[in-house]
Amino acid sequence: MEPHYTNTGIKENGYFSINIPSVEQMRETDYVGLVSGRDTDKSTVFKSFFGSVDNAPLIEECPINMLCKLTKTVDLPGRDIFIGEVLETYVNEECVTDGKLDFMKINPLLFTSADASYWELGKIVGSGYKEGKTMIKP
Ligand SMILES: Cc1cc2nc3c(=O)[nH]c(=O)nc-3n(C[C@H](O)[C@H](O)[C@H](O)COP(=O)(O)O)c2cc1C
Repeated sequence: MEPHYTNTGIKENGYFSINIPSVEQMRETDYVGLVSGRDTDKSTVFKSFFGSVDNAPLIEECPINMLCKLTKTVDLPGRDIFIGEVLETYVNEECVTDGKLDFMKINPLLFTSADASYWELGKIVGSGYKEGKTMIKP
């Protein structure tokens, strides 16, 4: 038996979606992780919408959604790792500032499994591709 009910659908349909919840959706996000679609209908917890394929629903309430085509499945004992190609990305327009993703507006829900805690973003501490430059020897 599949470890997650969702896995059966991904394998049958060949598509899946990645939906980034914001802190606002914490309770519902935790709930859909606590119960399985095998015995609980979770389809009404969030509103769904569809991109160009009709068998991979995306979550309307989540500020970022990615529709993915399954390209490879790695079967590990008790686990499946799904690798997909991102076909479409949707972003809530209210989370865009000057044409760029605004992560403070997205307010993504973060999770650390070691202490089973949900977090929100803190402050920016540096710039990628710049902080380490001074260590590069000429
Ligand atoms: C806070 C939280 C974190 C979770 N993290 C993972 C995880 O990292 N990997 C995983 O396989 N399942 C994880 N789960 C468990 C799945 O979300 C859970 O088995 C889910 O009910 C599967 O749903 P499905 O059977 O409808 O596919 C987590 C659940 C919760 C509540």
